[in-house]
Amino acid sequence: MKNLLSALFAAALLSNLTACQQETPPVPLTPKPEFRVDLGPDPHSYAEYDQVQVRHLTLDLDADMATRTLSGHVLLELDRPDPAHKRLVLDTRDLDIQDVTVVGPEGEYRPVSWRLGPVLSEDQAHLGQPLVIILPQGISQVRVDYQSSPDAFGLQWLDGNQTSSGQPFMFSQSQPHYARTWVPLQDTPAVRYTFDATVRGPRDLMVVMGADGNPFERNTKGEYRFSMPQPVPSYLMAIAIGDLEFAEIGPRSGVYAEPDWIERAAAEFHQLEEMIDIGEQLYGEYRWGRYDLLVLPPSFPFGGMENPRLSYVTPTIIAGDGSLLALVAHELAHSWSGNLVTNASWRDLWLNEGFTVYFESRIMEQIYSPEVVAMLARLDWDGLQASLPELEAGDRQLVRDLSGKDPEGAFISVPYDMGRFFLDWIESRIGREDLDVFLRQYFDEFAFESIDTETFRDYLDTHLIQTHSGALTLAEVDQWLYEPGMPEFAVAPESDALARVDAQRARWQGGEMALNDLSTDDWSVYEWLHFLSGLEGPLPTEVLAAMDAEFALTDSTNVEILYLWLQHSIDAEYAPGIERLEQFLIEVGRNKFTRPLYTALAASDWGRDWAIEVYQRARPGYHPLTRQAAERALGIDSEG
Ligand code: BES
Ligand code: ZN
Repeated sequence: MKNLLSALFAAALLSNLTACQQETPPVPLTPKPEFRVDLGPDPHSYAEYDQVQVRHLTLDLDADMATRTLSGHVLLELDRPDPAHKRLVLDTRDLDIQDVTVVGPEGEYRPVSWRLGPVLSEDQAHLGQPLVIILPQGISQVRVDYQSSPDAFGLQWLDGNQTSSGQPFMFSQSQPHYARTWVPLQDTPAVRYTFDATVRGPRDLMVVMGADGNPFERNTKGEYRFSMPQPVPSYLMAIAIGDLEFAEIGPRSGVYAEPDWIERAAAEFHQLEEMIDIGEQLYGEYRWGRYDLLVLPPSFPFGGMENPRLSYVTPTIIAGDGSLLALVAHELAHSWSGNLVTNASWRDLWLNEGFTVYFESRIMEQIYSPEVVAMLARLDWDGLQASLPELEAGDRQLVRDLSGKDPEGAFISVPYDMGRFFLDWIESRIGREDLDVFLRQYFDEFAFESIDTETFRDYLDTHLIQTHSGALTLAEVDQWLYEPGMPEFAVAPESDALARVDAQRARWQGGEMALNDLSTDDWSVYEWLHFLSGLEGPLPTEVLAAMDAEFALTDSTNVEILYLWLQHSIDAEYAPGIERLEQFLIEVGRNKFTRPLYTALAASDWGRDWAIEVYQRARPGYHPLTRQAAERALGIDSEG
């Protein structure tokens, strides 16, 4: 397969290349060997990072909200451990590469030979195109002048009529492999670099980055400077521009949001500083300086994204009562698991997400209580058990071969929840104290490194398995890592509170109890979620109407409860719920909700027709990722 692809690729390249020749020739000729490219050691990147590594970036960009472009240049500083390796291959996708130059010994810019290769194949188009640059001897600085596309997959540009402030907004989402749609770089989590950036935006908006240097106030020139002194992988590069205000929470924490949201956000996240302190007590120093949150418009396709120093969050977690703060604990926890010690490729994603879900629950335990954490764990366990049978065999294990696949598909519940239950299981075998000691050592040992599962496995063997003789075996660990399904020795979490909900639900459904006798007054959000997810659909519409009359679920201000209610409404074709759903789909572009809702709608004839019509209206407000997932769910073609 690889050979065939490189042959196809080779055939499409020019034989005689000089700088800036990019037009496809009428007759494809075989390229010179130095321009032939295949995927690198990471199956989702063209970068040959075993031969040459980017160590520092200097970005200089102008953001144009009207043309929806970032344009300018990036200067890449390289490590060339093998001077005989004479080229640099960068990842790009939909970038307009205008010029490539290198910095000579006198600091002068010199032209070089470069070539933008074609995409590998139609189904690998998401990987973009390799930019091959021939490196003269002794050269270690390369400058690329470029412009991003208005349709860059990793950026969403919103008009004033799509934001609460009425001002335009732009934000990036680089994970897993979309940084290449706004910066040409080695787009693999295996490579880490420091960076500096200068960004010019409209004078009346603020520019922020996942970096040091975020302003507390707008500056009058519209020019902002940032730096990232700790080495980070490309998927953590982040930028946003909007009508932002800042509210301080603690000495090293705060929140950015559009003016309409800022007060509610600051109130909802008032425990942020405390959460950082808890994280430090658990797993060691917070090594990134500040930790701020950026509240994005509701079209943000995720719940949260752990951009270093400035995590991005959806406004849909602002429930008014702190009930969805687990997401903040999660993104903060990534400051250790993920951002400090990073998965070397998406195959090892569980190292980021599984550790983070475990760590998140440890923070939640201190902010709330062990009972709350037991409920969260049980909800995750049930969700995972429900999803496992629906997955292909190769997807039911922690370490998954993703070569040839879109890494977007890596983010299923297995690396998150099975990863977390793996750590819970280790805790059950050796005790919490010893596990914490091990984890602190692990974060120290691999700080600012990107590692694969096998590096972790070796470390675990030496520092935990061998020092706790008989407590757990490498064979058991390997079953977690490489065998499909949950090991039979996994420890299922129990929650008394949720068991009581089960009992009540059963009595109500068995006709032994009336709806208004359910003791819901002291139910937390988690109990509601468990109650709703345990109801087998489709429920009769009269039952939904009665529940609505009793509990006003169609008007729920908690997005997780509302989501489950809307799923029941689809199943039952419950009109008030469907009406609410229409408004929800137009307002919220969070993929975790939109994708399954469109999927559920697509299962019936009425639902599919209705959903396609709603989708067409919602589409302009959706992020490219949300569009892609919704179109796949509905089985319709993209319109651009
Ligand atoms: N790193 C992810 C966000 C992400 C997911 C990026 C998929 C790219 C692809 C983030 O840390 C995350 O997991 N967010 C979750 C919330 C979390 C509490 C499970 C989300 O967005 O729902
Ligand atoms: Zn995460």
